Amino acid sequence: MSQKQFQAPRGTSDILPEEQVYWRFLESRAEDVATRFGYERINTPAFENANLFVRSVGEATDIVEKETYTFEDRGGDLVSLRPEGTAPVCRAYLQHGMHNLPQPVRLFYMGDFFRYDRPQAGRYRQFHQFGIEVIGETDASVDSEVIDLAWSVLESVGVKDVTLLLNSIGDATCRPGYIDELRSYYRSRASELVHDDCKRRLETNPLRLLDCKNGACQPLIDAAPGSVDYLCGDCSKHWDALLGDLNAVGRSYKIDKRLVRGLDYYSRTVFEIVPPSDGQQSTLVAGGRYDGLIELLGGRPTPGIGFALGIERVLAAIPRDDESITKIDGNKIIVAHMGDESKSAGVKLCSELHRAGVAAVLAPPGRSLKSQLRYASSIRATHAVIIGDRELESGSFMLRNLVDREQREIPRDDLVAALIPS
Ligand code: HAM
Repeated sequence: MSQKQFQAPRGTSDILPEEQVYWRFLESRAEDVATRFGYERINTPAFENANLFVRSVGEATDIVEKETYTFEDRGGDLVSLRPEGTAPVCRAYLQHGMHNLPQPVRLFYMGDFFRYDRPQAGRYRQFHQFGIEVIGETDASVDSEVIDLAWSVLESVGVKDVTLLLNSIGDATCRPGYIDELRSYYRSRASELVHDDCKRRLETNPLRLLDCKNGACQPLIDAAPGSVDYLCGDCSKHWDALLGDLNAVGRSYKIDKRLVRGLDYYSRTVFEIVPPSDGQQSTLVAGGRYDGLIELLGGRPTPGIGFALGIERVLAAIPRDDESITKIDGNKIIVAHMGDESKSAGVKLCSELHRAGVAAVLAPPGRSLKSQLRYASSIRATHAVIIGDRELESGSFMLRNLVDREQREIPRDDLVAALIPS
């Protein structure tokens, strides 16, 4: 009786060996850039107390209402697989007393996140983010630094022609006034609100009306009041300072009043970086300021700002013909051999190469040279060392570069040194 084979769950993927080099490339470049900007890595658990996200991301947000994987564990605790990284990092900041360190604290993270969403290109149920958070500084120079860092990561992996969308949604002083204004605007045009989600948002989360993607809502959004026109004195000063700093670091921006973001914890600066072909699921980087979040989680009032970059989305935007990507892994040697004696020489050579820090694999024994070289290509070897009777006799082995096909003979004793990465 044939059994149905298991498949990876919907919205998840296996990252196969041939893809891994791109992941390593992006992760190492992101880590280099973050380190250059003075950030330090933090890892948080894959699941947290479910209330952490209800309290921070917000009860009336799509993420908390519909997308978290929340369940009672065997001990009866309600936990959620993390849908995002900001709340966990803030939780860790408080738990480990980082508020007692000189401020601000600059952190970065990478890992997988989980949202029960309708899977489509660029939207998955398990996905990966690289993110940063700066906690404990309110000055706009930090906002500009965070944006510059995000953009630098994209540049470092060859993603070009992106656009920075920028907005300020004000703070607790001015946002309520703006939301009243927005609500009365939408109430005056309530008959034009055709979608149930929008009607509901008018009451629960009016800001989200502005990022509705339904065609019928677009004329309404176009004519809606924008938050930057309702900023209080302090927010307005902060906004002007940010624009000045962005000009100083040479990052151009497009002010976008639709940008309100789907998480409740934001205040003042919000931003997204989008690629040239702007599809719905294409935002590469998204972030903003969350000055009230630490307090909401039980800490002293402490400002914060950060972003997260969608690793799958950025990988899809990376030019695949870039040689510097495949080069990051260095050389990988296949040791081909013909006959028992050369196999023994191959076993010894492989072990010497491993000890010298060179990636090396002994070709599968008992096969023709052709078949051994086919195997070399399937494991993406860059070089082959070929050992046969003639080579054993002469004491020189043939080294073939499998990329440019050049080959040369090298005395056995010089071989390991010749393959050690420079
Ligand atoms: P977010 O906008 O929810 O923000 O996600 C940030 C980025 O993660 C998105 O722009 C996208 O690239 C990627 N992403 C989100 N959901 C998915 C998905 N289902 N499939 C694939 N990629 C996805 C946050 O998560 C905030 N924590 C960002 C932040 C950090 N704000 C301040 N600090």
